Amino acid sequence: MQVPTTSGTGSEAGTRALVTDPATQNKLAVQSRYMLADLAVVDPDLTLTVPPAVTAATGVDALAHCAEAYTSRKAHPLIDLYAIEGIRLVGQFLPRAVRDGGDREARAGLALASLYGGFCLGPVNTTAGHAVAYPLGTRHHIPHGLSCALIFPHVLAFNAPAALEKTQGILRALGLSASNDEVIIRDTSRDWCRAVGIDMRLSAHRVPEADLKAMATEAHAIRRLLDNNPRDLSPDQILTIYQTAY
Ligand SMILES: [Fe+2]
Repeated sequence: MQVPTTSGTGSEAGTRALVTDPATQNKLAVQSRYMLADLAVVDPDLTLTVPPAVTAATGVDALAHCAEAYTSRKAHPLIDLYAIEGIRLVGQFLPRAVRDGGDREARAGLALASLYGGFCLGPVNTTAGHAVAYPLGTRHHIPHGLSCALIFPHVLAFNAPAALEKTQGILRALGLSASNDEVIIRDTSRDWCRAVGIDMRLSAHRVPEADLKAMATEAHAIRRLLDNNPRDLSPDQILTIYQTAY
């Protein structure tokens, strides 16, 4: 039985465990259908005391699961339904849950969004957003949700030329205006993350600037995720994302 106490990972619906190899600092996925929970109890009341900062970061993680699966090369029409509804729920309820943790309707919406994000992970999975976020966690111990939030607007914008209609669908589902301009997409989605209280600068989270190049090399090697990204990313393009986010 699995019982989530945050609205973020959606692991209660998943078949994967992620472990960091201490020697290589690589984040490895172990997958088996035997790891699928027999029973998951998703009770939003268990998230009522999650502090605002954790609510915000985990909420953007759920959003990233949905958005990355939605724009993946392996996207599937059935999973798209969960993905776009998960994005809409985060757009509607994350600002409310951050403002008032006791807002039970908002907490219930986010619990569903997280579960829907979990439904996206098994059959489709994440793409470049998570791959580029991983070194923030493995090398600099930034929590997973926050890492994904810091990278989310950059990959959403970068992928736009390769998945324009779906990117615009994500923006609209979040309640933002749809644009086809990469800079506008990046800035509006970053502002949205800032508005839920996340400091979106890597520098504010003590990532050393001298490490960005090594992080880009490491992220580029995560082929299990990057190979499904709608647009190819070179190590230099990943480095540019880190520099822009710095
Ligand atoms: Fe995640």
